[in-house]
Amino acid sequence: MPRAKLVFMRNGKRVEETEVSPNETLLDYLRLRERSCGTKEGCNEGDCGACTVAVGSMRKGRMVYEPVNACIRLLAQIDGCDVITVDDLASEGELHPVQKAMVEQHGSQCGFCTPGIVMSLFTLYHSGQKPDRQRVNDWLAGNLCRCTGYRPIADAALLAIDGNADDALATRSAGTLKALKAMQDGEDIFIGNTDRFVAAPASIEALAKLVAKHPDATIVSGATDVGLWITKQLRELPRIILTGRAAGFDAITSSKSGLRVGAGATYAQAFDALAGIDPDIGEVVRRIGSKQVRASGTIGGNIANGSPIGDMPPMLIALGAQLELMKGKKTRVMALEDFFIDYGKQNRQAGELVSAVEIPRLARNQHFRAYKISKRFDQDISAVMAAFRITVEKGKMTEARIAFGGMAGTPKRASNAEAALVGVSIANEADWETAIAALADDFTPLTDMRASAGYRMRVAQNLLRKALTEIAGKASDETRVAGRRERLEAAQ
Ligand SMILES: Cc1cc2nc3c(=O)[nH]c(=O)nc-3n(C[C@H](O)[C@H](O)[C@H](O)COP(=O)(O)OP(=O)(O)OC[C@H]3O[C@@H](n4cnc5c(N)ncnc54)[C@H](O)[C@@H]3O)c2cc1C
Ligand code: FES
Ligand code: FES
Repeated sequence: MPRAKLVFMRNGKRVEETEVSPNETLLDYLRLRERSCGTKEGCNEGDCGACTVAVGSMRKGRMVYEPVNACIRLLAQIDGCDVITVDDLASEGELHPVQKAMVEQHGSQCGFCTPGIVMSLFTLYHSGQKPDRQRVNDWLAGNLCRCTGYRPIADAALLAIDGNADDALATRSAGTLKALKAMQDGEDIFIGNTDRFVAAPASIEALAKLVAKHPDATIVSGATDVGLWITKQLRELPRIILTGRAAGFDAITSSKSGLRVGAGATYAQAFDALAGIDPDIGEVVRRIGSKQVRASGTIGGNIANGSPIGDMPPMLIALGAQLELMKGKKTRVMALEDFFIDYGKQNRQAGELVSAVEIPRLARNQHFRAYKISKRFDQDISAVMAAFRITVEKGKMTEARIAFGGMAGTPKRASNAEAALVGVSIANEADWETAIAALADDFTPLTDMRASAGYRMRVAQNLLRKALTEIAGKASDETRVAGRRERLEAAQ
């Protein structure tokens, strides 16, 4: 029999919940049921960070605390985790070191953003790092403050955080780890009845079986998309199947030939492996949403949602990735580009899961470039996302794989431009022009609130020129604010 309750830790204490609505968010649970109202509701869509809480989970035998937007995290997703909110930080009348530093540095004015900022900094405090200002800024990209200004907030972080956590959480960490280990009971969770339920299978086999049995259920991985269907579109999702508890669904395996990334791997989990293929991938991934979004959102969700402006698909398509899907016990594999049929239409059968993506490594003569174009550097959806893998032999391009997001109803290859590059000299700029012009045959972009059609085409053509310029070794210092690796290293 599956388990019909959630079991998790709330600030070091074990909690069991049997009354769990499939659509209940963690924020509603904290504010409405627990009456822990320190955690604020701002945008209710993962953008502002006012609702940030720390969620601790066991990874490779140790506790990892990540900042999470409670507004778009479902309550059922926290089974087996330790949840800490701003209400828990002060102890015996003493503020937490991060809170004290915020007071001392005048890091709060109206205070609405402050609980979320404190909780993001709390996770940085427990990350074991001694951050520099760039690191703090990156960590806080998902926390908007509209009145204090970020300098005093970053000053508070630099004052309080030196890589040595010394607080109540650190004192009880061994006990928390033991308690979380005990919660990993390998049992499937099923709360509700066949008409209305939330389920969290404990194995990939059980997950695939349940999805095949309930093809109309909503599969939920990180809920960074689905959470908004609930909070913004006010959709009622009566049957929810969570992937996050299935052991191994987030596994990342690396071999000489490539990477296999389980669909349930979050951006945070996959970051190092992806950046290891090429630093440009790391640079794009660190700009996906925010720390909070990257702690929850998954690679599989970014593919399965079929969005024409998702950041991963163009990069994975250009790299020649293969997608694995699973229905019950059967799996099938396809080139990733074949998954995207049309706007809102993917090559996924009812009851089928996206289970993994296989990403080949670059050969010595293959050069990869990826660029995300958005209005803001952080926490913004792409207007255009471009990725290029160009093979060069003896000064000539022998193969080109080019994929764009934001240029069509799906992430799509630029087949005319690709063909026009084959046999062309990488050294001779004038020879690139046919391919650059051919992008106009490949795409008819739309005008929307992110960009006009004309802007998108111009930027796509310029990005191809930029990639070729960099690969040819011309003026590469002038095409980036800093070198490719330096930018990434600054963000680590
Ligand atoms: C504030 C904010 C900022 C964002 N910024 C970016 C950004 O910069 N770039 C970007 O690309 N995206 C961005 N997103 C969108 C989103 O975070 C990503 O697309 C993310 O990867 C979705 O993954 P998820 O696991 O959260 O998906 P979920 O919300 O869990 O699911 C998304 C969809 O995929 C389906 N699904 C999920 N997993 C599977 C599976 N294994 N098999 C089959 N179907 C599945 C679900 O049923 C649903 O239809 C942002 C979102 C927010 C809220
Ligand atoms: S309330 Fe704005 S991110 Fe949750
Ligand atoms: S203190 Fe007012 S929004 Fe940050």
